[in-house]
Amino acid sequence: MPAPPTVKPFPDHMAIEQTEPWTLALASPSQTENFGSTIGRRLQKGEVIALVGELGSGKTTFVRGVALGTGLDPHVVSSPTFTLIQEYFGPLTLAHVDLYRLKQSEELADTGLAEYLNGDFVVLIEWADRMPDAWLPDDYLSIHFLHTGKNARRVQVQAIGPRSHGLLRAVMSDSR
Ligand SMILES: Nc1ncnc2c1ncn2[C@@H]1O[C@H](COP(=O)(O)OP(=O)(O)OP(=O)(O)O)[C@@H](O)[C@H]1O
Ligand SMILES: [Mg+2]
Repeated sequence: MPAPPTVKPFPDHMAIEQTEPWTLALASPSQTENFGSTIGRRLQKGEVIALVGELGSGKTTFVRGVALGTGLDPHVVSSPTFTLIQEYFGPLTLAHVDLYRLKQSEELADTGLAEYLNGDFVVLIEWADRMPDAWLPDDYLSIHFLHTGKNARRVQVQAIGPRSHGLLRAVMSDSR
C-alpha cells in the first residue's frame, strides 16, 4: 500500500482556520535547522510559534534555523539557565522564550511575555505547553517535535488562525 501523503492540500475555497497537522521527517540536526530557516525567511513581525516536545527533541535547533532565516547570526541562540526570555535584534526582533523552568503560570505575568506578544516581535516559545492556553494569541503556528531515532525527529506543524495558515502555506510551497 502506498504511504499516505505527508502534505495535505489546502483548497483555496475553504476558509480554514485550523489546519490539519503537516508532518515532516527531519533526519539530522541540519535538516531541522534548514526547516527553521525556511520558516524564518517567511516570518513577519507579530508572528508567534509555539514549540512543544520533550527534552532534546530539537526545539532550540529549530530556533537557531529560524534566526538564520530571519537574517540573524544563529550563534546568538542559546538555552540559558536562568532567563526565560531572550531577545535577538536583527532585521526582525526575535523573542526566544523557554518555559522549561517556569514553576507556576503566575510567574508568566512577571516575565514581560505579554509585551513580547504585542505585535512588535516574532515570538518563539519552547515548552509552550507549560503556559495556560489563555496566554496564547488567537493566531499562531504550533510545532510538535517527536523523537523517532537518534538523529531522527518528526515534526507536526499546525496553523491556528488565518495569518499562520498563510504562513504555513507559503512555507509548504517553499519546501516542495
Ligand atoms: N534531526 C534532529 N533535529 C534536531 N536535533 C537533533 C536531530 N538529531 C539529533 N539532534 C540532536 O538533538 C539535540 C536537540 O537539542 P535541542 O537543544 O535542539 O533540543 P530542545 O528540544 O531544545 O531541548 P530542551 O527541551 O532541552 O530545550 C541536539 O544535540 C541535536 O544535535
Ligand atoms: Mg531547547
